[in-house]
Amino acid sequence: MFCKVNIDSTKQYMCWQEEYERIKIITAPKWQYNEIKFSGVDYSGIDEVAAYDSMHKKFRDYTKSSEDIIRRLSLDSDSTVIDLGSGTGAFTLHAAKKCRTVIAVDISAAMLEYCRQQAEREGLTNIVFCQGGLLTYEHVAELADAAVCVAVLHHLPDFWKLAALTRCCAMLKPGGRLYLFDIVFPSGETDLRQKINEWIESIETMGRYPIGRGSGNSCEGRVQHI
Ligand SMILES: C[S@@+](CC[C@H](N)C(=O)[O-])C[C@H]1O[C@@H](n2cnc3c(N)ncnc32)[C@H](O)[C@@H]1O
Repeated sequence: MFCKVNIDSTKQYMCWQEEYERIKIITAPKWQYNEIKFSGVDYSGIDEVAAYDSMHKKFRDYTKSSEDIIRRLSLDSDSTVIDLGSGTGAFTLHAAKKCRTVIAVDISAAMLEYCRQQAEREGLTNIVFCQGGLLTYEHVAELADAAVCVAVLHHLPDFWKLAALTRCCAMLKPGGRLYLFDIVFPSGETDLRQKINEWIESIETMGRYPIGRGSGNSCEGRVQHI
């Protein structure tokens, strides 16, 4: 199940998915933050993408971290998970072996193509590839059990981070889970860990559904600082 994608400079996204047999055209309004322009390194070629992968594999164990995410999100063979900013497939390729469906979303066509080639090589047929971003990916399938967003959110300014998280929430079933991993740059804030924990507690008391479940239910279990 693969998704043919195309994207052009006028920010019109065309996403055709065999599974849904429909064409979805998403046009971002002009006032919206241009997430393509500020998406970090422009991974325009497969070679650059391959270099990213070999560099990251020197200090990351993709299998180990993916297993940890799967456990924290309680994913199993019935689960559908969206990997937002999937990159080379650090999580997607592993999760596809454990979950029913993985929807791999990335702003970069080269990243997606690299990941698609790896998936083909490994005989994985349950990944839907979709070119789009945190602010522009339109989730047309049934609501997902979980979403994963690793080392991507920092690409957006704070205001748009909130918009991205709100959009992400709308893609999830009631009680759906989000695994968010990102970079916190050194700041003048004292006791950042305590502040983040308080923020998570405040969301938990505001929300209609409990955030976590299973063994990762404590704040410390859900938040890890790097
Ligand atoms: C540092 S890589 C992380 C990739 C992957 N999640 C991983 O764990 O290796 C950041 C990825 O986010 C993508 N990206 C950047 N801005 C994005 C956005 N606004 N929406 C979706 N993906 C974005 C980039 O194309 C790149 O593939």
